[in-house]
Amino acid sequence: MKLVERMKAAARADVKRIVLPEGDEPRTVKAAVILKDEGIAEPILLTKALIEAPSNAARLASYAATLYELRKAKGLTEEKAAALAADPMYYGMLAVKAGEADGLVSGAIHSTGDMLRPALQVIRTAPGMKLVSSSFLVECPNRSVGEEGLLVLADGVVNPCPTAEELAHIAVATAETARKLCGVEEPRVAMLSFSTKGSAEHALVEKVREATAIAKGLAPALLIDGELQLDAALVPEVGALKAPGSPVAGRANVLVFPDLQSGNIGYKIAQRLGGASCFAVLQGLARPCNDLSRGCSVEDIVNTVAATALQAR
Ligand SMILES: CC(C)(COP(=O)(O)OP(=O)(O)OC[C@H]1O[C@@H](n2cnc3c(N)ncnc32)[C@H](O)[C@@H]1OP(=O)(O)O)[C@@H](O)C(=O)NCCC(=O)NCCS
Repeated sequence: MKLVERMKAAARADVKRIVLPEGDEPRTVKAAVILKDEGIAEPILLTKALIEAPSNAARLASYAATLYELRKAKGLTEEKAAALAADPMYYGMLAVKAGEADGLVSGAIHSTGDMLRPALQVIRTAPGMKLVSSSFLVECPNRSVGEEGLLVLADGVVNPCPTAEELAHIAVATAETARKLCGVEEPRVAMLSFSTKGSAEHALVEKVREATAIAKGLAPALLIDGELQLDAALVPEVGALKAPGSPVAGRANVLVFPDLQSGNIGYKIAQRLGGASCFAVLQGLARPCNDLSRGCSVEDIVNTVAATALQAR
């Protein structure tokens, strides 16, 4: 069974309430009908009219008070908090924060930054997590790569220019996403570069080596290796030639790109040239909130809600 079908089946077994703050957007409305009809999730469609209805006044006031408490040290006034809480994106995040919804999916209209900032401000990082990042779940037509064609790529959404330490945290979080969300029993993490094991010397390569060492310290039991080029990570013969003895080379199923430019370009190459199906989830947030591409289809929204519901378990 394909990954998304497995996710939908698992989501049906434990139905979660997922907020869709873009409740006036046609693809979102269609997706909500499918989610409800197929029992994948309990969608909560938000609209300005619903939020500002007199019957909702007490809840809105309570959310505004929460937002004010969260952000007053950053200079947010009570008036501004009240105005922001009435915005469906903030309202949705505050509903998740309050436990009145289990997760949130947005981004059919909003840019990634406009969705991420409220998530970072309101939901914040999970206990023990330093950083929010993303994983792309990539299903390739070529079943011989990764985990029978499944690769988990990071970070293609959040962190433009991670430090070595941040890259290490992204690697560990992505391995966890592969394990918990995708059912990959043995994540094998390749820290990608334009160099394999010293074939080139540059400060950028050194950063990937440093990140690999930090990640090994953070998760000693995890199979992780770097720096590796993409071919050395994925192709057994190239891995054996360029990185002999590596526990990851030639059989990686988790690919950590060195920055957001390469990660974002990398998944789009897999999608547009490689015919892979790709969608992203955020990792490291205290509660699941996920971003869509503005070019998303109804099916993309349904799939992302199913993944969000699983993260909420
Ligand atoms: C994530 C992003 C929105 C943060 O925006 P920003 O303008 O840098 O925001 P700030 O630096 O003011 O950070 C806002 C808050 O989030 C926190 N934060 C920022 N990035 C974070 C991260 N990756 N993990 C955890 N917290 C983070 C900051 O510490 C800050 O907290 P505070 O206000 O409580 O002190 C920004 O990095 C971004 O736009 N990333 C690229 C998104 C994108 O366009 N992707 C395209 C591919 S789809």
